[in-house]
Amino acid sequence: MRKIMAGIIGAGFISLSHLDAIRRIGFADIVGITDVNYELAKKKAEEYGIPKCYRSVEELLADDNINVVHNCTPNHLHLEINKKIIKAGKHVFSEKPLAMNTTESQEMLDLVNEHKELVHGVNFNYRMNPLVQDIKHKISNGEIGTPKLIHGSYLQDWLLFDTDYNWRLEPEIGGASRCIADIGSHWMDMAQTVTGAKITEVCADLVIVLPVRKKTKSMVETFSQNTDMEYEEKEIKTEDYGAVLFKMDNGCHGVFHASEVSAGRKCYLNIEVNGTKASLYWNQENADHMWMGFREQHNMQIMRNPLLVDPKVQPYTYLASGHPEGWNDAIKNNIYSFYKFIVDGKEIGKDSCDFATFKEGHYILKLTEAILESNKDRKWVKLV
Ligand SMILES: NC(=O)c1ccc[n+]([C@@H]2O[C@H](COP(=O)([O-])OP(=O)(O)OC[C@H]3O[C@@H](n4cnc5c(N)ncnc54)[C@H](O)[C@@H]3O)[C@@H](O)[C@H]2O)c1
Repeated sequence: MRKIMAGIIGAGFISLSHLDAIRRIGFADIVGITDVNYELAKKKAEEYGIPKCYRSVEELLADDNINVVHNCTPNHLHLEINKKIIKAGKHVFSEKPLAMNTTESQEMLDLVNEHKELVHGVNFNYRMNPLVQDIKHKISNGEIGTPKLIHGSYLQDWLLFDTDYNWRLEPEIGGASRCIADIGSHWMDMAQTVTGAKITEVCADLVIVLPVRKKTKSMVETFSQNTDMEYEEKEIKTEDYGAVLFKMDNGCHGVFHASEVSAGRKCYLNIEVNGTKASLYWNQENADHMWMGFREQHNMQIMRNPLLVDPKVQPYTYLASGHPEGWNDAIKNNIYSFYKFIVDGKEIGKDSCDFATFKEGHYILKLTEAILESNKDRKWVKLV
């Protein structure tokens, strides 16, 4: 099998999960890494035994040994860097949200459509959890009847205090939506994945819980503690919390809410689907377990078991039951699936795939913009 050789741009929080995944795929290897902060990239390269550390994006893209590039930079750089990756003739695996807005994501979509030889993906990783795939297959097998209602949340607390600061709080870097674009996007992707349907109408209430925050002189890596005492006050323009009612094109109605200021909640992403015969519930903080509820028989607690899941779900799970699989495993599944698509010589648009492509990343941005519009105009917004 042809070997995939990867490069990573951006050496922050998420890059290590990409690196871990690349190294767990038998037919792939890491070639090198770059970051605008060269010292950081060098430190990570030394610490993790990454062969090369480049001084610029251009230098990485000029390396003929690399055929897939992972874009792990902040949101405002996704357009510029993804375009450079595509123009360099390399497959692109981008972090989410795909872009700052739909004008940018449309531009990327147009570009990849001109380059059918290249594979493009967006890291909507939660869809690749084995039990999320199990929910998807149980629904498509008719095990819960017709899905009618879908609801859940994604709650975190890492921006709870006014001293918590990160680039995501600055609209010029993170985008006009924060909480919805950053984590609500994952929830929407998961809801669409398990139902195989699209969210087509939204009605949203977005809240800025902390209108002023203290920006420290030094920026810290995502989820890290800042100990810098020197700060300036900054007005906050993006939501800490969002609640969204929605309708789907399969007739499902639903609601989800997302928060970055819910004390005690870390990565509390949960989803429940109620069908005409049964319900299914999953929470990623307890990723190896799932609940199935019935009206006229006992409810079930299901523990992930590779030997008992539907054969279609088996490729997403490998550890024996009772040996927890979780967050990095889902990212590995996503990157494995993306790489396998490449080595199998498949083409986006022609062959089906289970990872999110730029088209899906673009649709999630359309939903995010509809949510912003709905909140601003205090009305339902329908996607055309
Ligand atoms: N899929 C997920 O679950 C998930 C989780 C976390 C972050 N993310 C996404 O990953 C991206 C990065 O987030 P993060 O949390 O790792 O941020 P981070 O701040 O920890 O890391 C970003 C890195 O990019 C570097 N960078 C900035 N400008 C650059 C440039 N011009 N060239 C090269 N490197 C540059 C920064 O120096 C930093 O090291 C974001 O788009 C975010 O939404 C996704």
